[in-house]
Amino acid sequence: PPTLQIEGESSGLGRMDCRAKGGSPGFKVAVLGAAGGIGQPLAMLMKINPLVSVLHLYDVVNTPGVTADISHMDTNAVVRGFLGQQQLEDALTGMDIVIIPAGVPRKPGMTRDDLFNINAGIVKTLCEGIAKCCPKAIVNLISNPVNSTVPIAAEVFKKVGTYDPKRLLGVTMLDVVRANTFVAEVLGLDPREVDVPVVGGHAGVTILPLLSQVKPSCSLTPTEIDYLTDRIQNGGTEVVEAKTGAGSATLSMAYAAAKFADACLRGLRGDAGVIECAYVASTVTELPFFASKVRLGRAGIEEIYSLGPLNEAGLEKAKKELAGSIQKGVSFVRK
Ligand code: NAD
Ligand code: LMR
Repeated sequence: PPTLQIEGESSGLGRMDCRAKGGSPGFKVAVLGAAGGIGQPLAMLMKINPLVSVLHLYDVVNTPGVTADISHMDTNAVVRGFLGQQQLEDALTGMDIVIIPAGVPRKPGMTRDDLFNINAGIVKTLCEGIAKCCPKAIVNLISNPVNSTVPIAAEVFKKVGTYDPKRLLGVTMLDVVRANTFVAEVLGLDPREVDVPVVGGHAGVTILPLLSQVKPSCSLTPTEIDYLTDRIQNGGTEVVEAKTGAGSATLSMAYAAAKFADACLRGLRGDAGVIECAYVASTVTELPFFASKVRLGRAGIEEIYSLGPLNEAGLEKAKKELAGSIQKGVSFVRK
């Protein structure tokens, strides 16, 4: 049977236990799907986050190797690996944040919705575990199609009575990361100085970059706006095609997920003014879920910001597609 690996136990010299058992400040983070293309670099980035004291790595394959490897990094977090469904509950118990990149990625020619049939079931099972073992954890959901998997998670939590909309966040950070990069390129700026809100959802036309709200404020030509909107909406497909069947964005996604998880951790710590875009339960539009800027705090989402003045065309189109994806996720659990 697969074994549970705990860093520091292999030598039998137990002094390392002090880090896991108490003294060390920081939060407990689990990555589900930790042996995958996103999971591995994400696990590495979480291992170097000073706000993380315990890092649980769960997957249905290969976690012993990934855990052994990452546990040798000389940073504070204690790393433990969990393999297979029978270890899911141990992986989740006591976690403050659960990050979920588990599931299959796209190949060229596929939409994110084509992943629904496989990933919906994976997300449902993992969320049932979260409801049972760490119902207060903040969930960062990465598995596609995010527009449907977040409603699936919400329905699972509602069913068992643990749903807290403040704690469930679909990760759309990669859209923001891409938007910042592409806009900076056009404007000739350092991407770290650029902030582009991206709202709506995380698939094609549902990805709505608010190019009229770019900071620092700038005026883009209609040609630049068309080019940027198209490139941001199709950034995922650009990577899928470049990888020619070997998967979708993993490294930029791990970076984006780590940046987003760090924002959640800073919020949990009580930092002021932590604001990021995420796909969340929302009343910003008539849809039950919508991505927009949110303020993160000790309770998870503490404020959801309205969209502000919009010049952008495309909101109606985005809402129409989103409505169908949300309904599909809800029906999957209710059926
Ligand atoms: P991958 O195939 O490289 O890795 C997925 C991992 O999930 C594998 O290690 C696999 O064993 C694991 N897994 C499968 N079933 C599992 C289960 N039941 N429990 C736990 N783990 C399980 O794929 P990837 O490139 O890492 O992508 C993962 C997901 O993230 C895909 O659905 C992809 O579309 C999505 N994604 C989302 C974004 C975003 O912006 N939200 C960006 C990129 C990728
Ligand atoms: C992305 O935006 O890169 C991800 O959603 C993966 C994909 O399928 O495009």
